[in-house]
Amino acid sequence: MSRQWIADAPSNIALIKYMGKLVATADSSRNTPTNASLSLTLDHLTTRVRVREVDGPKGSLSWSPLVLPGWDVPVISQMGQARFLKHASRCLEKLESTENRALLIESANSFPSDCGLASSASSFAALTVAMAKVSGRDVDDPAIRRRLSELSREGSGSSCRSLYTPWALWKTEGAEPVSGLPKAGQLRHLALIVDEEKKTVSSSEAHVRVTSSLLFRGRVARADERLATLLDLLKRSSGENDLHAWNQAANIVWAESWDMHALFETSDPPFGYFVPGSVQALNAIRELSSEIRNELGTNHFREPMVTMDAGPNVHVILWVDPMTESFVHRLQSKLHGRIKIIDSNQFRNSDSGKRPV
Ligand code: DP6
Repeated sequence: MSRQWIADAPSNIALIKYMGKLVATADSSRNTPTNASLSLTLDHLTTRVRVREVDGPKGSLSWSPLVLPGWDVPVISQMGQARFLKHASRCLEKLESTENRALLIESANSFPSDCGLASSASSFAALTVAMAKVSGRDVDDPAIRRRLSELSREGSGSSCRSLYTPWALWKTEGAEPVSGLPKAGQLRHLALIVDEEKKTVSSSEAHVRVTSSLLFRGRVARADERLATLLDLLKRSSGENDLHAWNQAANIVWAESWDMHALFETSDPPFGYFVPGSVQALNAIRELSSEIRNELGTNHFREPMVTMDAGPNVHVILWVDPMTESFVHRLQSKLHGRIKIIDSNQFRNSDSGKRPV
């Protein structure tokens, strides 16, 4: 009888960014970051990987899209498939798997794959966990999980953070969970999808190119300082329900996002991800925040935390309070339905990993 193994893993958004590798190379097996990064796990945006024993040459690996009702069928280039399968084989080897049948690896995303949201983090994390199951490992054992995070990093750096939720801190080898920060239920995540095109410069390529920027000098110290301050502020905003700490944290996240995009734009040659819709979205958030600040007074408004990945879309993290619903509603009307919003709230109470109805 042929066997199968299934694993789900979430995406994540970095608040302190992984940008720059110690060995500046596009070779994905050496994803050693120049600085530590911190991310919020996006439990509603998941990838599912199913591995099945199939007929075929012993030990061979192949990929195909996983077709599941309500899930998105990913389209992966030949190069992308080769990278994915290379990672699968690396996992089997490093986890000392005894499996020797031909394996078919299938994957699907719970979110539209073409919407420009990072699926590589969730894909590589789900693949790593799936291959660990194939290798007979207990993926819930904390020591194994730590090992899987290190291994996932070799496939795609940011994926190592997707092994933990709701917060993950990645210093060097693998990520670790962080306690004492706001709980998932205290936060709401919006992804403002302004452009669904595939990016012209991949993040792996961006890691190499940013080292040519003069601003890269001092980057590690800036990121380290922000990380320490941000962790402290997030702890205060959570534990002491401190509104000012949250608002200062939002400022740090904003500055960090611009720091990364400034690295892109000052590389030699420069490159960037902003499109007109990005600026429109950022302006709408700024305008709305200023309106609400005026209505409520600065001491009563928790600012939205805004960040962008290596892409044109805008991520917003909101503190859930009586204002949140109206903030989202007013933002939607400011954007006149021209910019699609993927809202983590749409997924609440639905089965994990399923698309909203
Ligand atoms: C901008 O993890 O995609 O999203 O390690 O080469 O696969 P590789 O790069 P990747 O880089 C992600 C960079 C980022 C910031 C972040 O997630 O920290």
